[in-house]
Amino acid sequence: MRTQVGIVGAGPAGLLLSHLLHLEGVESVVLESRSREAVEQTIRAGVLEQGTVDLLTSVGVGDRMQREGAVHHGIELRFDGRGHRIDFPSLTGGRAIMLYAQHEVLKDLIKARLEAGGDIRFEAPAVGLDDLDSDRPRVRFQQDGRDQELECDVVAGCDGSWGVCLPAIPADRRTEYHREYPFGWFGILAEAPQSSKEIVYTYHERGFALVSTRSPTVQRLYFQCEPDDEVGNWPDERIWAELRARLETRDGWTLAEGPIFQKGVITMRSVVCQPMQYGRLFLAGDAAHIVPATGAKGLNLAVADVVVLARALVERDRSGRTDLLDAYSDTCLRRVWRAQHFSWWMTSMLHRFPGDDPFQHQLQLSQLRYVASSPAAAASLAENYVGLPLERP
Ligand code: FAD
Ligand code: PHB
Repeated sequence: MRTQVGIVGAGPAGLLLSHLLHLEGVESVVLESRSREAVEQTIRAGVLEQGTVDLLTSVGVGDRMQREGAVHHGIELRFDGRGHRIDFPSLTGGRAIMLYAQHEVLKDLIKARLEAGGDIRFEAPAVGLDDLDSDRPRVRFQQDGRDQELECDVVAGCDGSWGVCLPAIPADRRTEYHREYPFGWFGILAEAPQSSKEIVYTYHERGFALVSTRSPTVQRLYFQCEPDDEVGNWPDERIWAELRARLETRDGWTLAEGPIFQKGVITMRSVVCQPMQYGRLFLAGDAAHIVPATGAKGLNLAVADVVVLARALVERDRSGRTDLLDAYSDTCLRRVWRAQHFSWWMTSMLHRFPGDDPFQHQLQLSQLRYVASSPAAAASLAENYVGLPLERP
């Protein structure tokens, strides 16, 4: 089997890359270890930056998002029992965010690829990469119980944080930067009406809590938990009691509750692999970098990477020029480190750290008060949250 771009992973990075390449006449094959149903049902991100929304719309996969997604013009920071709104349009020259679940984006992309005759192989895990430093790199994969090989011009490693692509870069040809946070997030989906029109980020002595939404009848909530916490530790009533305690306000705000139909613990960590390239292998999305979810940047970074990669691959296909491709890693890493800093900053400001250091607590409160009261500080949060413009080489 042969193709121009062999894409490992049908997450947002892999599927969007395949779609962008197709629009410019570059062919690709996507290999995905899981079934289509599993990919389309995995609950993950919900916040799309303005640039992500504009891009999905301009490349023809934004119709359902425009109909079913919800535009949010701000977020609330809640601390000391009071809410403080950060208004995005007035602080960013009219920009906003969209709430539309990641698995809905994936459904739209899969549909668009399959309708255009695209080649997505589900239940076809890549098991190894060969000859990455030659001009004929190969991906070994399994399908229907048989070992197969995909020969390509270029391999795009879009296989997320536990894939095979990053480890295929020799250890002495990459640097990995890591940060582990001493807490996790407990996430739930509940059938309940909306408690708040906008996302609420709460700092409380008991720990962080987040109110988000998926639809008028389905709500997404998270709260800081132990890093090794387990779903079994949290019966429904304990979850609601903890959320009520952390989200309580002095003006009697109430949390709308209802049946919980999904629970999970999310690890909070940062990883960057540098460079994001080795020979003919280009990493994109979570395969190259992970951010803690507090900044809502993971999916958006994956989109930003593949925009740069698609442009560079199309240029190489059209003119043979490789300067954009050669600059791929440097171009992406500027945005990646900005997002890492923003995500670390939001995480540090909003969580309780073990040790219960009273000095640290006062610093966090001071930072929150500053962001809530200074238009300059609020503008910095807003600019990063709605997303900085895409990097250009
Ligand atoms: P993935 O989505 O992980 O896709 C990788 C794909 O590769 C998977 O389908 C996997 O099955 C496949 N794969 C793995 N190994 C192989 C193999 N060997 N062969 C073939 N296929 C393979 N980000 C935001 O921007 N905003 C948010 O609000 C937000 N909230 C989040 C909430 C949660 C609970 C979580 C967990 C994450 C959140 N994120 C958020 C992060 C976001 O979901 C990820 O950054 C995003 O999924 C990255 O996309 P990706 O395509 O790089 O990787
Ligand atoms: C979500 O809606 O899933 C969500 C919102 C904001 C975040 C992370 C996740 O920071």
